[in-house]
Amino acid sequence: MALVTTKKMFEMAYKNGYAVGAFNVNNMEITQGIVEAIAEEKAPLILQISRGARKYASMSYLKAIIDVAVAENPDIPICMHLDHGDTFDTCKQCVDDGFTSVMIDGSHHSFEENIRVTKQVVDYAHDHGVVVEAELGQLGGIEEDVVGLSHEDVMKHLTDPDQVVEFVGKTGVDSLAVAIGTSHGAYKFKSEPKLAFDVVQKVQEKLPGFPLVMHGSSSVPKEFKDLINKYGGAMPDAVGVPESAISEAVKMAVCKVNIDTDLRMALTAKIREVYATKPSEFDPRNYLGPGREAIKAMVKRKLHVLGCAGKAAECF
Ligand code: G3H
Ligand code: 13P
Ligand code: ZN
Repeated sequence: MALVTTKKMFEMAYKNGYAVGAFNVNNMEITQGIVEAIAEEKAPLILQISRGARKYASMSYLKAIIDVAVAENPDIPICMHLDHGDTFDTCKQCVDDGFTSVMIDGSHHSFEENIRVTKQVVDYAHDHGVVVEAELGQLGGIEEDVVGLSHEDVMKHLTDPDQVVEFVGKTGVDSLAVAIGTSHGAYKFKSEPKLAFDVVQKVQEKLPGFPLVMHGSSSVPKEFKDLINKYGGAMPDAVGVPESAISEAVKMAVCKVNIDTDLRMALTAKIREVYATKPSEFDPRNYLGPGREAIKAMVKRKLHVLGCAGKAAECF
């Protein structure tokens, strides 16, 4: 089995009211934890790679790890996706590197420039059998290579439903990341979490059948925050998107849900626990191994929130 695009996954997810999990990978243990969970739960999978991940691990290592995952799991549809591509050149490089899906994030550009660069990526990617995700509106939070808005500004830069038909029509893009109040990272809300489901509803009415993507969708589960803080970490104010809100969104047009922070928290919590409870431990296998198990458990939990467990076969 080879890598697949998201076409069939999104078609089935839209029709049947679930979403496919898009999990960020940066090394072997993270990838193995995700893939072991997926294999046991029989869910479709999007493995996504950020520019930061490409820089950290190098594409040739990541691609080789993902190729093994694909070869060992012929009954699971797996897509390799570029997360937050910033330029045409980055996206072109990823198409040439064998990605089956790329995101061009032109959300910080003007509407016209976002259309121009997205269309340029779509033309190249489609010629090579690769699908494209774009973004309209702006998210919050700051990651290594993805700069977003402050808490105060997030709700002022939501996706404008009146722009989506023109954007999708002029670019030919395959899916659209919408800004509905989420942020990247572990500090998403200063007060009560609030998402703009009315934006999803309006976009869905204007583009029936068209798949939407939710970024910044980690839930920052309290038990992991507490473990990190208990074992010497300092994340007192971390707040994520409630899992109930994610489950609501996937019944609408949201077909892809991006999760990175929750995996980072699972790995960090477990490694901190080993360091704190076994101070003489210095074999990396004895903390990365439990960290990998924690990622696997976290991904299994997510698959049930997204409703995609057991859906692998219908997504080929
Ligand atoms: O959207 C951002 C992802 O969480 C990736 O973060 O750029 O630090 O790898 P990163
Ligand atoms: P989180 O930081 O909420 O996990 O979001 C990840 C993401 O959107 C990657 O594109
Ligand atoms: Zn994102």
